[in-house]
Amino acid sequence: MTEQAVPGEPDRAPEPAGDVDGEAILAVRDVAKHFGGIHAVDGASFEVRRGSITALIGPNGAGKTTLFNIVTGFQRGDRGEVIYDGASIFRRPPHVIARRRMVRTFQITKALAAMPVIDNMTLAAPDQPGEKLTGLIFRAPAARRREKEVHERAHELLDVFGLREKADDYAGTLSGGQRKLLELARALMVEPRLVLLDEPMAGVNPSLGRKLLDHMHTLRDRDGVTFLFIEHDMDVVMAHSDEVIVMAQGATIASGPPEEVRNDRAVIDAYLGASVA
Ligand SMILES: Nc1ncnc2c1ncn2[C@@H]1O[C@H](COP(=O)(O)OP(=O)(O)O)[C@@H](O)[C@H]1O
Ligand SMILES: [Mg+2]
Repeated sequence: MTEQAVPGEPDRAPEPAGDVDGEAILAVRDVAKHFGGIHAVDGASFEVRRGSITALIGPNGAGKTTLFNIVTGFQRGDRGEVIYDGASIFRRPPHVIARRRMVRTFQITKALAAMPVIDNMTLAAPDQPGEKLTGLIFRAPAARRREKEVHERAHELLDVFGLREKADDYAGTLSGGQRKLLELARALMVEPRLVLLDEPMAGVNPSLGRKLLDHMHTLRDRDGVTFLFIEHDMDVVMAHSDEVIVMAQGATIASGPPEEVRNDRAVIDAYLGASVA
């Protein structure tokens, strides 16, 4: 496993799981997906506790991103089952899954980069009745109220993420780290119950990275949001997750509290036998 420290990241003991009630918000059962002869995911099974911060780790090519794609509906699994909030979402389309408030972050595309930060935020909000109507004068009071709520939430989130001053700047002018924060802030516009993050710290400077992690804890503690994040930095995983799921060669090979997983023989072997990310 990688042992490199995050500069400026103080050692932090794993925090208690907070309001975790033991119930799984997400259950993945024997999921598989192949691309031609490549078995990208090959028997992945795990549960994510409601209100937890759960890390998904594994060597490069283990199938983590493909598994995220299957869970969020962006790719169709070959077999298995995915239960979210008590109902099957396996092979359901992404918008149906998103509507149930499971979200993942997306890179700020070229189109979004050419828009002000605030528009990036409001566009991420679900159903804006005002959008379809032409002039302000014709808008129903309910639509205006909704629009106001969306703006308030957007500004509140920009505040939280330290991006308030950037509200009117084009998203394309943000630094890499600020973009990552905006990606997370956008995802939060839908008031999600489960947030999936694929290597949120990659390319983010340490101080912004710390901010991102702090927000994750705040949102979990304050709003009960559950997080499942892919991360290759073991120091971050050890310090910030309640549970760790380990994948290798498409399969889940271990899961449990971070300190347990770190000492698991199968996990150590999997990392030693692979090119470490
Ligand atoms: N669209 C695809 N077509 C073909 N092979 C793919 C595709 N997506 C992923 N793979 C392969 O599946 C395996 C798992 O990839 P991935 O899910 O990206 O792993 P990880 O995120 O753990 O690094 C790798 O061997 C990768 O090359
Ligand atoms: Mg990946």
